[in-house]
Amino acid sequence: MIQPYTEILSEILIPADVLQKRIAELGAEISADYAGEELLLICILKGGVMFLTDLVRHITVPTAFDFMAVSSYGVGARESTGQVRIEMDLRISIADRHVILVEDIVDTGHTIAAVLEMLETRKPKSLKVCSLLDKSERRETVAPIHYRGFEIPNKFVFGYGLDLDEYWRNLPFIGVVKT
Ligand code: IMP
Repeated sequence: MIQPYTEILSEILIPADVLQKRIAELGAEISADYAGEELLLICILKGGVMFLTDLVRHITVPTAFDFMAVSSYGVGARESTGQVRIEMDLRISIADRHVILVEDIVDTGHTIAAVLEMLETRKPKSLKVCSLLDKSERRETVAPIHYRGFEIPNKFVFGYGLDLDEYWRNLPFIGVVKT
């Protein structure tokens, strides 16, 4: 049986209305920066899905999107190691296109650093990162974030795309897990 989220939640870190307001701001910022251009958003599954679908509704330039899934592997089950394997690749070419990677959270930074390195070899016209959350205290490598939703403390969070054993991605807010 899956525990009700109310038993796992210690506090709501970012309420739904605050999330939505910030996402609208990010969409407006991106729209202004890419005025006159076409844009390709790449969502890293599964955590970035909620963010992507809300974000694109606030982007006013011609925008396409595609998905990729990656997994970290190497020593240590829980920690990201910098070794990233593509589980599901893009269906379209990014060559000569303006690309923004859409992520739920940048933690150690290993995932985004590895994905950026991989995508750079495909010669996009430009490649930037948009992450809803930034747990910068935990950073272990250089991971540029061009569009950042919220800086958050070093706490394990869930909801709004982020899961706890695959559940509760559907919550409209970001919550902190009870320790
Ligand atoms: P990084 O490679 O350490 O930056 O890890 C990024 C990935 O770790 C994210 O895309 C998430 O899937 C996962 N992650 C990191 N912190 C959290 C958290 O607080 N809650 C849920 N997932 C997290």
